[in-house]
Amino acid sequence: MNLFDTFGRVHNYLRISLIDTCNFTCTYCVPHQKPDKKKAEQLMNAQEIVAIAGIFIRLGIDKIRLTGGEPTLRKDFGHIIRKLSEYKVQLTLTTNGFLLHEFVSDLEVAGVHSLNISIDSLQEERFNSITKTRGFQQVYRNIFLLLQKGFHIKLNVVLMRGVNDEEVDDFIELTKNYPLHVRFIEFMPFTDNEWEKNKVISFQELIEHLGEKYDLIKLPDQVHDTTKKYKVVGYKGTLAIISSVSNPFCSGCNRLRISADGKMRNCLFAQGSTNLLTPFRNGEDIVSLIEQNVKAKAFQYGGQQMTSDIKNSQMLLIGG
Ligand code: GTP
Ligand code: 5AD
Ligand code: SF4
Repeated sequence: MNLFDTFGRVHNYLRISLIDTCNFTCTYCVPHQKPDKKKAEQLMNAQEIVAIAGIFIRLGIDKIRLTGGEPTLRKDFGHIIRKLSEYKVQLTLTTNGFLLHEFVSDLEVAGVHSLNISIDSLQEERFNSITKTRGFQQVYRNIFLLLQKGFHIKLNVVLMRGVNDEEVDDFIELTKNYPLHVRFIEFMPFTDNEWEKNKVISFQELIEHLGEKYDLIKLPDQVHDTTKKYKVVGYKGTLAIISSVSNPFCSGCNRLRISADGKMRNCLFAQGSTNLLTPFRNGEDIVSLIEQNVKAKAFQYGGQQMTSDIKNSQMLLIGG
């Protein structure tokens, strides 16, 4: 059984947000007015996460990415990832990396091979100012700890004009000697995240800069990829651009999302969501709710325009 939307797109990738809080406070993600932290009973517990994931897997999901907030902040993160690994599914996560050293063996036991770590600056002061923490050293150490343990590491860098765009070449140089996969992300608008069009470093602008400076090879992209991938000749790692704003990849979209409080969204920019947790707790069958949610999916950006007036949720709650 598979989940098709009305545009014939198959949905086989589920992003589950485990928690609605983060230990970092990045301006582009966490709004000034932080959403109220939900009570524990409002969030899916581990058993519910595993059971609801199982329902999606029976509907054709074969890749699950755990997100947040920051997924590793959940006390039962190790337990959840181990339980989910009992399913026949590709399991992975997106994290800020700060607590990763505590979970290396859980990740190994769960068969997680690849993970995405956010790092927007390689300069300690700037990193700490973007995240409003003193976390740089620990995140940087953890990236290399996991690399040395053999994990495939993708680094997520949200580029913002005048904030970190002068560091593009430094990130590329990281891929010279290390098999790291750097992904430059176009800054996207979310409720109350100070987005302005001129802060976006577009795919076009970036690729022109990179093309002038480096000998680039285009790598193949898959139909569902968010990225356009490249490599500098002779470098060990790769680089990619996630061009959600200037060159959306919605035609290949295979993604569904559940927030930590059990609400399903069919798009990162969807205005509405479907509460799955309440009916699930009432013992109701949620399959038809899931199917209806998929059928209601718009072709692109949740049926909206990518402007600062976009009406979506907050990145902190959706998990990217
Ligand atoms: P892979 O599974 O490795 O392809 O990861 P990913 O790029 O899908 O996920 P990740 O959580 O690392 O997100 C990287 C960036 O891509 C973030 O800025 C996300 O918000 C963005 N992103 C992820 N999925 C989507 C999507 O479906 N649509 C859009 N527009 N952006 C997305
Ligand atoms: N635009 C682009 N990417 C974002 N992320 C968070 N907020 C934004 C935004 N406004 C990224 C984070 C993380 C991933 C889940 O989403 O850097 O890597
Ligand atoms: Fe899919 Fe929506 Fe992202 Fe487009 S913006 S790729 S439709 S989730």
